[in-house]
Amino acid sequence: MKSLILGIETSCDETAAAVVDNRSRILSNVISSQIETHSQFGGIVPELASRYHLENITPVVQNALRTAGITIHDIDAIAVTIGPGLIGALLVGLSTAKSISYSLGKPIIGINHLEGHIFSVFLKQPPPSFPLVALIVSGGHTDLYLVRGIEDIETLGRTRDDAAGECFDKAARIMGLGYPGGPVINQLASRGNPGKIKFPRPMLSNHSCDFSFSGLKTSLKTYLASNPLDSEADGNSSIHDVSASFQEALVDVLVSKTLLAAKKNNVKSVVVAGGVACNTRLRERLCEECEKTGMDVYIPENIFCTDNAAMIALAGHGYRDRGLTSREKGFFALDANANLKIEDMYA
Ligand code: KG4
Ligand code: ZN
Repeated sequence: MKSLILGIETSCDETAAAVVDNRSRILSNVISSQIETHSQFGGIVPELASRYHLENITPVVQNALRTAGITIHDIDAIAVTIGPGLIGALLVGLSTAKSISYSLGKPIIGINHLEGHIFSVFLKQPPPSFPLVALIVSGGHTDLYLVRGIEDIETLGRTRDDAAGECFDKAARIMGLGYPGGPVINQLASRGNPGKIKFPRPMLSNHSCDFSFSGLKTSLKTYLASNPLDSEADGNSSIHDVSASFQEALVDVLVSKTLLAAKKNNVKSVVVAGGVACNTRLRERLCEECEKTGMDVYIPENIFCTDNAAMIALAGHGYRDRGLTSREKGFFALDANANLKIEDMYA
């Protein structure tokens, strides 16, 4: 029987709502981005994010229902992100979901944002099969997970300091390129020489699945102090070469650690999601390396790599389909948690 879930996502700077059916068909996927607001401050301002979510959430939900050609009464459940993320931002989405649940008597399912990113690969056909290794790589996270199935996810490693997206954003700020930095550096790098500058590959030589990116950002700063950027003048560094070399170091680490995690756990399917998964060099290198080693790689299209509510709705279906109604808590029992871990969901 057909069932529809309304997904709501407000963990960071995207106000998003989507309607997805139980065959993974996306009836609508509405995203209102606040990037222009935050870019003038060089990063996300949490208080501003909450205020804009508050302004946007009702029109975004209405738009998602209208685009799907349904009314709020047609939905069977609401899936909402409860963490991790900015607490004020999360509370806007959760309060909205709770209001709909309470007033219409619809079940509500709390979803971990990172589970949402893992589920985003199941929006694409053919979907991967379990077990798989998932690299979730965004502005706030760089995590490796072993996913054996729904509600069976183990953390293999994570960054000990900056997330990869944060490292791209900080590097762009150092080079005066604005926010968010990842897409700009990606674009500049396409015209540069990735082998020109030997930036360090942090933690590459050890066998852990953890990451560390703060040293890479410092080495960029140190390099630029003695080799100032100027694409025009002879003898100075080209912004294209610096971007390409910096990106290559970061991508090298992400690819190597992901393959290490897959090999260590004897897994043949690799999944990558989160905003940094939009990076063209990361996608290219992962495909190349996985082909060499006989692994299958699954990366969603860009719109589902960055924050969206379709992935949250789909994760909601995952739990409903398997009868895991433990997730369908009464609306009083659900709370937002800025530091929510995947393991917290199964406690
Ligand atoms: O998943 P996301 O939309 O939001 C978070 O949950 O953080 O990811 C945003 C991050 C930003 O740090 C941005 O610079 C990075 O993803 N990003 C990229 C690219 N597109 C977005 N990083 C590298 N290359 C890209 N093409
Ligand atoms: Zn995210």
